[in-house]
Amino acid sequence: MTGAPMGLGGTRLIGTGSATPDGILTNADLEKILDTSDEWIQQRTGIKQRRVVDQTKGESTVSICCDALEDAIKNTGVDPDDIDLIICATCTQQMSCPSVACRAAERIGATRAAAFDLAAACSGFVYALNTADSLIRLGRYKTIAVIGGDAMSTVMDYNDRSVSILFGDAAGAAILTQDENPERGSIKQIMGADGRGWECLYLPRKAIDVPECDKDNPIELGMLRMNGREVFKFAVKKFQHVIEQTLSEAGIGIDDVAQLICHQSNLRIIESAREKLGIEKDRVYVNIDRVGNSSAGSIGLCLDELNQAGRIKEGDLILLAAFGGGMTWASSLWRV
Ligand code: COA
Repeated sequence: MTGAPMGLGGTRLIGTGSATPDGILTNADLEKILDTSDEWIQQRTGIKQRRVVDQTKGESTVSICCDALEDAIKNTGVDPDDIDLIICATCTQQMSCPSVACRAAERIGATRAAAFDLAAACSGFVYALNTADSLIRLGRYKTIAVIGGDAMSTVMDYNDRSVSILFGDAAGAAILTQDENPERGSIKQIMGADGRGWECLYLPRKAIDVPECDKDNPIELGMLRMNGREVFKFAVKKFQHVIEQTLSEAGIGIDDVAQLICHQSNLRIIESAREKLGIEKDRVYVNIDRVGNSSAGSIGLCLDELNQAGRIKEGDLILLAAFGGGMTWASSLWRV
């Protein structure tokens, strides 16, 4: 847990952007290829449809991340030459070299910016935002673009009904800059990981990646594997804990938070946290019904949708919370 370092400035969220591919994969579409039903999926996850890239049109993690950053540039009017660093959170880059962040830099013409990718699965956008905030507070970088994006459909085994019903594709971006007020930006944050749970959610590229527990199971290399029940149990406990710890260390109550932006993993997980916190529905943003779980894209997309709808105002406190493969978790309490 780190608070706002004394004596240093803060971070201002200049603006946001996002991108979702045009392709739509509904529960009815999945009913045609899997032994599942719209009713089961909606009841267990809250998802009605997901957005999916069309690889035959060249759409990918790179294209949606570039689109999201371009959208943020358009929305904010920031000159790409003023961006010092681009951080892209993703776990579905098709190439490990170059980074998606470098491709995004090329797209917007940010030739002065450093660029790197960050891997923290579904927690990635919050990890990246916290990292950017800290670098800005230290004075190392003035203006940083953060992207979170995943084309999860490219790593889905559409024969595996326990995983493929959940995920979709999206990207979100935010542009941050130095602010003289240290109480602006990420005023409290948590980032954590417990590697002992890695086998619950992993993306094997080669046979050597498959853990002992799955050695005798039919594994599709390049496709996401998930132990849904274990992830669910972990998520319900951890999500709640991270949110409460962040609020408690900031010395505020949930009523002070204008919007709680949760990783869109499963509506039941979000609802469980909402009910335990006693917060009304209109302060907990939900879009999982329309877009599914887009991993690192999820929180950035929610942030942009809220922002474009005028539901995030200067001075608001917003709380972002995520968990994901690793296992990882993260929160960021932001004064906008
Ligand atoms: N359609 C119909 N039936 C399905 C199904 C599907 N898509 N997937 C699983 N089932 C069946 C199972 O085979 C099982 O049948 P059985 O009782 O005859 O054995 C039954 O439904 C219950 O399976 P279970 O895995 O216990 O379901 P669940 O209530 O845990 O829901 C998930 C499954 C994946 C929706 C849920 O575990 C989940 O959301 N976990 C968290 C995943 C997550 O958040 N991942 C992202 C992390 S960032």
